[in-house]
Amino acid sequence: MSRPVAIDCDPGLDDAVAMLLACGALDVKAVTTVAGNAPLEQTTPNAARLLSCCNRDVPLAAGMAAPLVRDLTTAEDVHGEDGLGAVELPDASVEPIDRHATELLADVARTTDDLVILSVGPQTNVAAAIRRDPELIDDIDRIVVMAGSTQGGNVTPVAEFNAYVDPEALSIVLNADVPVTMVGLNVTWTARVGEETAAELERANDSVGQYAAAFIRALSPFHSARDGWDAVPLHDALAAAAIVDPNILTTRSMRVDVETRGEYTTGATVCHPDADDPNVDVAIDVDVDHFRSVLVDAIGSGR
Ligand code: BDR
Ligand code: CA
Repeated sequence: MSRPVAIDCDPGLDDAVAMLLACGALDVKAVTTVAGNAPLEQTTPNAARLLSCCNRDVPLAAGMAAPLVRDLTTAEDVHGEDGLGAVELPDASVEPIDRHATELLADVARTTDDLVILSVGPQTNVAAAIRRDPELIDDIDRIVVMAGSTQGGNVTPVAEFNAYVDPEALSIVLNADVPVTMVGLNVTWTARVGEETAAELERANDSVGQYAAAFIRALSPFHSARDGWDAVPLHDALAAAAIVDPNILTTRSMRVDVETRGEYTTGATVCHPDADDPNVDVAIDVDVDHFRSVLVDAIGSGR
């Protein structure tokens, strides 16, 4: 039986691969969108078109258009003006429902046993949902966030994008009384995927696989120019894969605090491995081959 999951995302090229992976290997109950890589007016239609790529008709709801207390920072430099690297996609066959993402998350949590929330954009919607209805956490099995890092950042030297965009929201989520797994840059930077895997995905599925390969290729110029890498990190897809098979990651229970008042360090996730009040299962290692094979299998079984 595949795990039931609600995906909160800001597509985003790696969000896109995460959605395709999840649609192939998890029981996707709902998709909610948040502002992040692109404004909400872009991430919501992007999510709708991605569901069409997977032939999925699951409830989709738009959420927060801005972080809890800050102005929005976007990432068009990585994901392109449209958030999806100008990859050609089918028209959306799914319309967002007339409810807020926080309401949809609450409804799905109430009606689904063992729900995992996969939060791969700024954590604004999930934090807002918990604030709106603190008992919600009793209905969630686990929250898996792609956010933060045990060290290093991709927006500033110390802050990862999702944590940087809405550090207050991430702090609320990490400190909620619910199991949380943090999949950060320290592992996603290691689990890179290149042309060989893109070609394998195309062979595995001549519909969804073509899209997945196109998203990987669209990320490539940015990472090749900035990092000199010939393979790209699929941050959000790694977080999704870790729900399919948690053995992909090695985690360690740690105290994680998010810097919300820093002059130079906003969004840094300060991880204390030896604290006696741990709040997060932090990914500290990744089996890269295992990740790639879960990705290929999931895309291969997608519709
Ligand atoms: C995270 O930031 C976004 O740009 C990606 O989609 C991912 O969720 C990586 O730092
Ligand atoms: Ca994302």
